[in-house]
Amino acid sequence: MKFFIDTANLDQIKEAQELGVLDGVTTNPSLMAKEGITGRNNILKHYVDICNIVDGDVSAEVIATDYEGMIKEGEELAELHEQIVVKIPMTKDGVKAAKYFSDKGIKTNVTLVFSVGQALLAAKAGATYVSPFIGRLDDISTDGLTLIEDIRLIYDNYGYETEILAASVRNTMHIVNCAKIGADVMTGPLSAIAGLLKHPLTDSGLAQFIADYEKGNK
Ligand code: E4P
Repeated sequence: MKFFIDTANLDQIKEAQELGVLDGVTTNPSLMAKEGITGRNNILKHYVDICNIVDGDVSAEVIATDYEGMIKEGEELAELHEQIVVKIPMTKDGVKAAKYFSDKGIKTNVTLVFSVGQALLAAKAGATYVSPFIGRLDDISTDGLTLIEDIRLIYDNYGYETEILAASVRNTMHIVNCAKIGADVMTGPLSAIAGLLKHPLTDSGLAQFIADYEKGNK
């Protein structure tokens, strides 16, 4: 499973990259605003800065909601850097735009996906990635992981190549469960990725090894 980090924070992206397990980055307008990145030129520059840190795909979301606007904006984003993936909302115009970009060989990430029907449309449009938001489904007492399972089944039935990018991942167990179900990619915060490292038996075992070594090497 590929690991993407879901942030526009350059320090966190660097930290994940240095861990050696990072395959890409996803951003969205809220994450960019959280980092105080405003103004078109600053936003575009920030995407390039991210591409220069990470060795992998970087999703940059269009703001336009109409087809022509998405095409214009998406083409501008795609020209910024070869690692840019144009992130498009799951709407009627978004599906049309995903088809346009996939026909042109430009990578896309269809975002804000909450149902299998929407995921099926994204695959039909040739999207590179589909982003089901599991955490937001969990927030409204709907099982986000079941959505991933259902999309996996349908994509496997027909051999769709669109990669299932489990998004809105909130914690370490989300990552583990997405891996069990067969999500191709997960995107989550650094805290969820770092959580995979932790086990109390690792800590106590290491402390014992060091103590025993020091006893015999005084
Ligand atoms: C996906 O690409 C989104 O950026 C993201 O995963 C949304 O997560 P959230 O529900 O924690 O905001």
